[in-house]
Amino acid sequence: MCGIIGYIGYRKASEVIFKGLRKLEYRGYDSAGIATVSGKGISAIKDIGRIDDIHAKRNFLQLEGSMGIGHTRWATHGGVTQKNAHPHTDSTGKIYLVHNGVIENFESLRTSLSRKGHKFVSETDTEVIAHLVEEECKSAPDFGKALSNAVAKLTGSWSLVCMHQGEEAIYLSRNGPPLILGIGKGEMFCASDVPALLDYTKRVIYIEDGDLVRFTRDSYSITNGGKKAERKVHTVAWTAKMAEKEGFAHFMLKEIHEQGGKIREALAADVSGAVALLRGQQNIAVVACGTSYYTGLVFKQLLQSRLSVNCDVIIGSEFSYARTGKEKVVVAISQSGETADTLSAVRLAKKSGAKTIGITNVTGSSLWRESDACVNIAAGPEIAVVATKSFTSQVAVLTKIALSLPGSSDNLATLSEASEAIEQILARSGEIEALAEKLVTHNDFFFIGRSLSFPSALEGALKLKEITYLHAEAYAAGELKHGPLSLLQKDVVVVALAPSDSSLPKIISNMSECRARDALLVAFSDSDEAIGKSALSFRMPSVQPLAIPIVYAVPLQLLAYYMAVKMKKDPDKPRNLAKSVTVE
Ligand code: F6R
Repeated sequence: MCGIIGYIGYRKASEVIFKGLRKLEYRGYDSAGIATVSGKGISAIKDIGRIDDIHAKRNFLQLEGSMGIGHTRWATHGGVTQKNAHPHTDSTGKIYLVHNGVIENFESLRTSLSRKGHKFVSETDTEVIAHLVEEECKSAPDFGKALSNAVAKLTGSWSLVCMHQGEEAIYLSRNGPPLILGIGKGEMFCASDVPALLDYTKRVIYIEDGDLVRFTRDSYSITNGGKKAERKVHTVAWTAKMAEKEGFAHFMLKEIHEQGGKIREALAADVSGAVALLRGQQNIAVVACGTSYYTGLVFKQLLQSRLSVNCDVIIGSEFSYARTGKEKVVVAISQSGETADTLSAVRLAKKSGAKTIGITNVTGSSLWRESDACVNIAAGPEIAVVATKSFTSQVAVLTKIALSLPGSSDNLATLSEASEAIEQILARSGEIEALAEKLVTHNDFFFIGRSLSFPSALEGALKLKEITYLHAEAYAAGELKHGPLSLLQKDVVVVALAPSDSSLPKIISNMSECRARDALLVAFSDSDEAIGKSALSFRMPSVQPLAIPIVYAVPLQLLAYYMAVKMKKDPDKPRNLAKSVTVE
């Protein structure tokens, strides 16, 4: 949801910012821009399109100076136009800022500023902030005070990076979307996310809501509510290499291939804090969105069917309507730890007195900081917009938590076979690519699963629709006969997940129902019977039930990936989507 960055130091700012924006492009990629300050004043280049394409056309590196700001956009207010791209400026052209978030009262601010003579060139909420700061500068003693007076008039969510001509300093304000300060030697950075900084520093401060920051090339000061605030300097464990493609054609493919090793790391996670809060609870609520919601469904099944603990999994944006208000412990699952819908559910739950457990991939994220106990899934940076390794690592961690609770008789060691099974599947990627070739001309896909393979079916359908834009939906296999069977006919594809567990006989019957309606049946199974029933198939390694959600997700990720590539779609940057959804 927009990537923002700022730099002051001894390097060429446009180069640092351009490279950083490329690392943040997963957050939005409909337009981008950079502004830098040099002896000639402030100059900016912004345009629509992907960062590399804009650079090829306009050459960001012609911008001189060693201080600047940049932005990659995922449009909210105003269409995808050059004028709406960031950075935005005020009437004087001396204040420049970039923004991630949504200003809810921008219409009324714009009207009152217009009455004072301000002229706007874009349709964005962000431009209004630049003019508001300009207006506040008329009465405030310094720029910092003007910015703080301006943000006091905003409602909504924002991370702002702001600079003005005449002062070698960058100002930040945060209320919602993530923002970090990177501390170097003789240089300082800020960005929406760590990968933008990894080439330069690993020392970061996570800016908190309400913080107002001023930084120069060798100092920083943070205030909150007018008072000086101390913030811990963290050393991040990620390396710059981890955020590179490392020879893979796409980040998605690299991240799919990392899963065997990442499962082992996830299984080593320290879950003691989470287990301590969950022990003895008979009613647990889980909150998450998208892929993370599906991993919550795995957790629910483990808790309910194996431990007789009641578990309610609620979509983040529905939590305020669906909650009882009496939740004692809420488990929030979020790869980024910054998903606004999940965070607002966590905050609501806390207000009602619940303890919260954050399951996240980003230590230092808002979820990490705001939860009573946290577990790091340790999947490493996930750069492709669609989730892959975070699904499998989340399932591994949630399974470990469930199995660590009293009453569990399952052995976690059975999960370690998941890593091996993943490696076996990856070694046979060519078979899945061949399957993709056969399916690429079809338009409608149903994914079916039962029991522990159902969340993987949901995830398979989500991957396919996200990156190929084909119609794909998932059903619990037994549910087809209650309606969706009416859609089945020749050329409609049914992807059946049929592991040899106790659900096998029933899913085989469901597959027969699909075949009888002429659907093209594709089995992912280790059962001869299921494979024999299907027009196309991929023989899965046989695994213990606990490993099913992880192992069955992997070939579906590959199927979606190869189909997208064959359809000439960019699997890393699907249309209309962005990673880390920081608006509600
Ligand atoms: C799907 C996907 C999204 C995210 C969702 C939640 O491929 O990536 O559905 O799973 O936006 O994101 P996190 O886990 O960061 O809260």
